[in-house]
Amino acid sequence: MTVTPDAIKQLKQEVGIAAAKRVKSGMVVGLGTGSTTAYAIEELGARLASGELKDIIGIPTSFSAAILAKKYGVPVRTLDDVDRIDVAIDGADEVDPAKNLIKGGGAAHTREKVVDSLAALFIVVVDESKLVQKLGSTFAVPVEILPMAIAPVTKAIEKLGGKPELRLAIKKDGPIITDQGNFVLDVTFADIPDPAELEKTLNNIPGVLENGLFVGVTDIVLVGEFKDGKPMIREF
Ligand code: A5P
Repeated sequence: MTVTPDAIKQLKQEVGIAAAKRVKSGMVVGLGTGSTTAYAIEELGARLASGELKDIIGIPTSFSAAILAKKYGVPVRTLDDVDRIDVAIDGADEVDPAKNLIKGGGAAHTREKVVDSLAALFIVVVDESKLVQKLGSTFAVPVEILPMAIAPVTKAIEKLGGKPELRLAIKKDGPIITDQGNFVLDVTFADIPDPAELEKTLNNIPGVLENGLFVGVTDIVLVGEFKDGKPMIREF
């Protein structure tokens, strides 16, 4: 069947809700960023409002997640206030068969990596369009950089064979500014033979804060997909 934007939206909603249903009372929950996780945050709020869920603490990965948590009545704290994260729920832009990810389509990957890596259980929520055989095949690697270091970082990335492009804002002139006040370069690589190696190499360039390759962090992937025309959730 043709997967229309409305159908994708439906899959995002189903998978976000499915992840939120795995949260239990008393848990500290990493709140990811993006349109899929937004449905999970909304569902957490609905479960809290109905009394089915009690005493959860949300740790937002962005201003966007914090605003949604407030809107849906999910209490939030900072990492200073908690000694653990039980579960984190977050979206992704690409997922490979080894559950490695590219994230950062919303420029939130730096805080997302901090929170998602700390979680005892990291659940990734995606629709089937995000599944790839190889990372980098449909999406560039977002790299958050210090604005003053754009020239040397660009050169260093080009030396690695990447093609960096400064991400521009919508409804604001010039580059997007991250929640930390930085720029994002979207880097296209012809091939990423070793995502773990590239993740470390990029982060080792002075002026790079964090990149969107998430290697070895994911525990569970929940995929929303259509089977025989019906939306289903598959776990891997
Ligand atoms: C935010 O920076 C990203 O890492 C998102 O988690 C990712 O882009 C997935 O977003 P959607 O759920 O909106 O597709």
